Amino acid sequence: MLYGHLFPAYREYAELTDEARVDWLRRDRWISLPQAEAALYHLEDLVIYPPRGRMPCLLLFGSTGMGKTEIVSRFSKLHAPQFDTKAGLSRMPVLLVQMPPEPAEDQFYTELLTALNCVELSSLSVRSMRAEARHLLAEVETKVLVLDEIDKMLAGTPRQQRLFLNTIRFLTNDLKVPIVCAGTEDARMAVLTDPNLADRFGAFELMPWCNDHALRQLLASFSGLLPLRRLSRLDTVEARQRLLALTQGVTGRIFRLIEAAAVAAIRDGREMLDAASFDAKDVTLPLVSMYASAGKRKAIGRAIL
Ligand SMILES: Nc1ncnc2c1ncn2[C@@H]1O[C@H](COP(=O)(O)OP(=O)(O)OP(=O)(O)O)[C@@H](O)[C@H]1O
Ligand SMILES: [Mg+2]
Repeated sequence: MLYGHLFPAYREYAELTDEARVDWLRRDRWISLPQAEAALYHLEDLVIYPPRGRMPCLLLFGSTGMGKTEIVSRFSKLHAPQFDTKAGLSRMPVLLVQMPPEPAEDQFYTELLTALNCVELSSLSVRSMRAEARHLLAEVETKVLVLDEIDKMLAGTPRQQRLFLNTIRFLTNDLKVPIVCAGTEDARMAVLTDPNLADRFGAFELMPWCNDHALRQLLASFSGLLPLRRLSRLDTVEARQRLLALTQGVTGRIFRLIEAAAVAAIRDGREMLDAASFDAKDVTLPLVSMYASAGKRKAIGRAIL
């Protein structure tokens, strides 16, 4: 069988030209990972939670590149807005909001109202924005509000941070909507400084990959879906150790490394991956810049704290 080493649904891609295969490799696609699915399961549970006095909230946290944004984007896609023709209004069960660069209330409500497709915000006072957000969130029947990059909160002064946490508390209390905050460990500590919020927030941590069964399964999946024409040999201790040493088990780095190694395997005609594939300079180069930016961000975070 031609390309019998690949999953049936992926064999056709191995027949594409080199450039088309490289293009395929570089496209974004959701890959079902055990931790990501477990996180989604928790998020789904919030959608069906009935309104009650204290709504449960969730902190999704993990190092940079662990896949938090991927998970919350997937969650919001699974609950995409729908237009109800009978009632003549949109429903937005999951509303995904990016944190503004600073935790200022006006900037936050601007992001929130923009996510609600509200235009002409410039003339509104914070008070009116708050009222409008409340009104619209109820109208579009938002069941879960998701705030990504909650770390940006740390760019504010301690006072701004406290005020911002009040805003979150107000939203969840007043609207009876669970709030999901995605961010790094530093952000988790900042949110939990508010004793009222600490009580409400459950936490789900995305742990780095380690040399276990889940990693073997991930590598087996890559072997079965990457559009390479020969059988890869990633199921070796050496390949796993090399991969973990280069990526520290961070999901985004693993994906980048595999992508770069697969592109190199197409271009140099090797057409398969093994432990040696991770040695080439051009394969590990993208990781160097990722380390540099992660390090810089951490240093900025520390300076603010
Ligand atoms: N489930 C997944 N399916 C496909 N790709 C993924 C998945 N999870 C992570 N990735 C890859 O990892 C990269 C980093 O993920 P993401 O941007 O979600 O990290 P993050 O935790 O939000 O990081 P940061 O704290 O820097 O915002 C993505 O660009 C994507 O390439
Ligand atoms: Mg992110």
